[in-house]
Amino acid sequence: MAIRPRLTSRRAPPKFLFILLLILVPICVIGIFTHGQKISYFFRPLWDNPPPPFQRLPHYYAENVSMEHLCHLHGWSLRTQPRRVYDGIIFSHELDMLEIRMRELQPYVSKFVILESNTTFTGISKPLFFASNQARFSFAEGKIVHGVFPGQTRAHGSHEDPFKLEAEQRGAMNGILRRAGISSGDLLIMSDTDEIPSPHTVKLLQWCDGVPPILHLELRHYMYSFEFPVDYSSWRATIHIYGPRTVYRHSRQTDLLLSDAGWHCSFCFRRIQDFVFKMTAYSHADRVRRRDFLGHSRIQKLICQGDDLFDMLPEEYSFQELIKKMGSIPPSASAVHLPAYLIENADKYKFLLPGGCIRAPE
Ligand SMILES: *[C@@H]1O[C@H](CO)[C@@H](O)[C@H](O)[C@H]1NC(C)=O
Ligand SMILES: *[C@@H]1O[C@H](CO)[C@@H](O)[C@H](O)[C@H]1NC(C)=O
Repeated sequence: MAIRPRLTSRRAPPKFLFILLLILVPICVIGIFTHGQKISYFFRPLWDNPPPPFQRLPHYYAENVSMEHLCHLHGWSLRTQPRRVYDGIIFSHELDMLEIRMRELQPYVSKFVILESNTTFTGISKPLFFASNQARFSFAEGKIVHGVFPGQTRAHGSHEDPFKLEAEQRGAMNGILRRAGISSGDLLIMSDTDEIPSPHTVKLLQWCDGVPPILHLELRHYMYSFEFPVDYSSWRATIHIYGPRTVYRHSRQTDLLLSDAGWHCSFCFRRIQDFVFKMTAYSHADRVRRRDFLGHSRIQKLICQGDDLFDMLPEEYSFQELIKKMGSIPPSASAVHLPAYLIENADKYKFLLPGGCIRAPE
């Protein structure tokens, strides 16, 4: 008698099952269609392998410790003269980050070599933002070498790989560096505008002998402002001792990674319209899946919450890391160990500091 009800409940009427399927199948199809990218990112630990591990070089620094002692701690020796430093920057429209970077590094850098294009990586025509804001950078006059990369516009909707155009621009940088007078033994920084080596890192590498010829820089990664520290995952920036075979790149070039060597502030823009520009114009533009992604109030809300602009999951290679990083980035109240120029001009750069997430009206 006790078995009977169980049997009947298992034998559901076929009509009911059919209707259930009729409802569930379209929901699943729509779900996979609209959240496909999210689903595939969730399963990244199954389909993607992490890049080969880096060998992390310990990095020593404290205020007022002598250069000689710092060189020795790294197993290097003090030079009698500092190396000349070339800062090779691929610039798009990150004017605030560029100013912070140049103010920070100016005492150590011989030449800032700034390359900008009249199109984006996705082939959309754009103004030459550096050229039209040059007055703002007059503090470094005489140290600036500015190059323009002639881009080509593409018909909207064409699908040429944006990374190809990005590679061409990096190639053009090699020629401009030579014209700027770089020579063997000089120090060359290869990084995007928002990947900023700390001044003491540049000083260390320019004053010590025995530095490996290529070093990746481990940068503290921030999102939207220095209020939202993400992790230490940024590694693409490199510093090279320039030689005849040096080529400007932004990819994995060696296993050596110098720990805690600076800042990488992604989407650290002053105005909402700069977020929109970056979201539509750059290499990851395929991530803008819906028009309402570009709504200004939506973007403002996400910036203050520390949430992802593209409604995506973090790119992680283990479920443990993925789950740890899911959700909003917790805000930090620390403004310690940040670029000095930012702290000295805190009023001008409120939007990059704790509590300053509201962007100015346009
Ligand atoms: C750092 O060194 C300078 C000059 O040697 C000295 O005047 C200053 O007091 C030192 N600062 C600290 C914090 O030790
Ligand atoms: C970019 O500059 C090059 C060289 O001056 C020019 O031929 C080209 O038409 C420009 N492209 C756009 C989109 O303005």
